[in-house]
Amino acid sequence: MSARALGHTAQHPMRVLAIESSCDESAVAVLDESRGLLAHELWSQIDLHRIYGGVVPELASRDHVKRLLPLVRTALEAAATRADQLHGVAYTAGPGLTGALLTGAALASALAYGWRLPAIGIHHLEGHLLAPLLETPAPGFPHLALLVSGGHTMLIEARALGDYRLLGETRDDAAGEAFDKSAKLLGLPYPGGPQLAALAAAGRENAIRLPRPMLDRPGYEFSFSGLKTAVLLAARAQPLDDQRRADIARAVQDAIVDVLCTKALRALEATGHTSLVVAGGVGANQALRARLREAVAARGAQVYFPRSEFCTDNAAMIAMAGLLRLRAGERGGLNLAVRARWPLDELRPPTDQENP
Ligand code: KG4
Ligand code: ZN
Repeated sequence: MSARALGHTAQHPMRVLAIESSCDESAVAVLDESRGLLAHELWSQIDLHRIYGGVVPELASRDHVKRLLPLVRTALEAAATRADQLHGVAYTAGPGLTGALLTGAALASALAYGWRLPAIGIHHLEGHLLAPLLETPAPGFPHLALLVSGGHTMLIEARALGDYRLLGETRDDAAGEAFDKSAKLLGLPYPGGPQLAALAAAGRENAIRLPRPMLDRPGYEFSFSGLKTAVLLAARAQPLDDQRRADIARAVQDAIVDVLCTKALRALEATGHTSLVVAGGVGANQALRARLREAVAARGAQVYFPRSEFCTDNAAMIAMAGLLRLRAGERGGLNLAVRARWPLDELRPPTDQENP
């Protein structure tokens, strides 16, 4: 993390502990304003949910309860940090699965109460948006952001911390969901996105061509639900041997990458921004990264990605959001308010009013 990411070199650097538990990853991180990321621990529940083909909310909550406190201990140890060296406890307050969110919120609030620290509830998507600030060089504000996760596909104008204007989003399935559902149709295990990407590497370009929904429409809306049907038909057309499965995987990836890249470039052009931030699980996709790197560079603009492990859910990004909000004067209370649904544009920049 660069000093620029945090806006200054602090004389009394702040340090936060952060907890992420919005879905099927239990994660804890410790981030220091001047020394950067001191620890990040993650326990993935993928094995727990795989046999059900998707996340089972009640199982997710129960597992978070088991994993989070040991992860806090491990993270503090790895960061060589005592509670009295911390300045706040950040946690994901939404959007996500209510029960899962509550496990992190309850633990964060209990720790904050016991340690006499502020607890700061973070918007999960703001975490994703700020993940590139963990890298060097870090993007500054304002910039354009392409947020592509399992639940969201958005183009956003990020003007400042907490000031995000939605330019367009998906009307139906998210990009990650399109990867996952297509993968399922090809018989790949949950969560299919990374598996489909791996299979696509053996696929041939243009062996099969799938539709690019909404590509020709003006604006920044997306639609990926039609891809499933196209994949289903392509998978039925003839015996599904290994090469055809790989060709279909390649076609799915190419279609999704093409739409995301074209619309992001269109938004860069229309807004005049010179920086594009890519965030969320699908941002880990190598084909998307390569295509965006090339296209954005050709425009003379910059593209910023978090490292792949910080594209998917993690606590380092929640720590980054927590640290920036804490530094800006935000102090959360100890009420256990989580929000399963929480529109990003309801977020506000932090103000000192919360800290009279
Ligand atoms: O951001 P994330 O970890 O969780 C949400 O907040 O949704 O995103 C998870 C999504 C899943 O749909 C997963 O399949 C997809 O990101 N994903 C990928 C890749 N890695 C994760 N999709 C395509 N290629 C990848 N390499
Ligand atoms: Zn996420």
